[in-house]
Amino acid sequence: MASKSLLFLLLSALVAYYFYTPLPDNVDEKLTVMLVHGTFRALGYMGYMAELFGIKHYMEVMMLLTHLEHTEPVSDENVSVTDTSFSNVPVRLFIPKAAVTEQRRAVIYIHGGGWCLGSSAMKPYDLLGRYTALQLDAVVVSIDYRLAPAFHFPTQFDDVYAVTKYFLDKDILQKYSVDPSRVAVAGDSAGGNLAAAIAQQLLNDPEVKVKLKIQALIYPVLQDIDMNTPSYQDNGDMPVLSKSLMVRFWSEYITIDRTLGEAMWHNKHIPAEAEHVLRFVNWSTLLPDNLKKQHVYLKSEFGSSGFVNKYPAILDAKASPLLAEDEKLKGLPTAYIITCMYDVLRDDGFMYAARLRKAGVQVEHAHYNNAFHGILLFNTWPFELKVAHDMYNNYIRWLNDNL
Ligand SMILES: *[C@@H]1O[C@H](CO)[C@@H](O)[C@H](O)[C@H]1NC(C)=O
Ligand SMILES: *[C@@H]1O[C@H](CO)[C@@H](O)[C@H](O)[C@H]1NC(C)=O
Repeated sequence: MASKSLLFLLLSALVAYYFYTPLPDNVDEKLTVMLVHGTFRALGYMGYMAELFGIKHYMEVMMLLTHLEHTEPVSDENVSVTDTSFSNVPVRLFIPKAAVTEQRRAVIYIHGGGWCLGSSAMKPYDLLGRYTALQLDAVVVSIDYRLAPAFHFPTQFDDVYAVTKYFLDKDILQKYSVDPSRVAVAGDSAGGNLAAAIAQQLLNDPEVKVKLKIQALIYPVLQDIDMNTPSYQDNGDMPVLSKSLMVRFWSEYITIDRTLGEAMWHNKHIPAEAEHVLRFVNWSTLLPDNLKKQHVYLKSEFGSSGFVNKYPAILDAKASPLLAEDEKLKGLPTAYIITCMYDVLRDDGFMYAARLRKAGVQVEHAHYNNAFHGILLFNTWPFELKVAHDMYNNYIRWLNDNL
């Protein structure tokens, strides 16, 4: 049944091929990429139409893929998979079946989807959990936090933070035979945002005695201040995350008020009084020249103070980890940051890498010159790309070497 629906989606994608825009030369396997792009665009149009006619919320339509790719928690010969909850938040747990010889490592994983979509039960996330558990002989806790538009910031953050705190308790770690000095947090896209925010918050939480060893941020979203970075300007229509979708995700994370999204789209949601935060995302100083290209750093056009007064989340580092003061970055766990060339979020990752390094944090930055946003998910039928396997293997190898 699911595969029939998936085929229907693929056919729709072919129709959407009509709307196809050329891909950069160095992107490989263009036909598959086109199919991916077409599917996401088709879904986007369906969402747009459904919303226009008042049938469904845009995100409810976008959730179709999440539902179609739903998997049950089925254990295999190597990994025991169960759905349970930690601190009342649902999680999918992956535990290696091999006998425990020494204490295990653990990865707390947070899925992407713009704080609105996705689930740890989605096939690609389920596979990633199994693979991580098997390859690292690690316990993997994949979190199903509550999503927008039903829930807004800080619910998503609070959910993942509650699970992290619960798991980092000495007794709980012992229950799962986990070595307290070898726990990682990782996430992709909005999950990378939440992972970075958790790592920052834990630094200053006296209640948590066990600290994270490393953080892996896979093409993370890290700021909502500047929607006009060179990567937003250059990659606004690339698969699978357009600028308009990213702006929509941000505005849904913060509020149901759609006027915020409009202001964000025009980069006019920050008032002059908040000018002091701009230096945290000053791409003119934080980006390498080859990414700045012909772009000229302009002083922002400031908007009214209405939005930040109404929605303090806009300036909250728990929502935008790049807004943390330099002091707050000192002592963060070693970071692995993945960025992709053709991704609106590319510069978020570059800027965070630069700021972390300046604060003395060890960073390994894996930049993919030929990739776009969301690549890690395309490692299984019907969307399978070689670059996804490369990214996957490099990520697992880094975890294995550093955790
Ligand atoms: C289980 O592990 C073995 C040995 O690593 C491997 O050959 C096999 O494919 C694994 N099974 C699954 C379902 O992953
Ligand atoms: C950003 O950096 C440029 C170049 O160093 C500088 O001229 C500009 O004043 C900075 N802007 C902010 C808001 O920090």
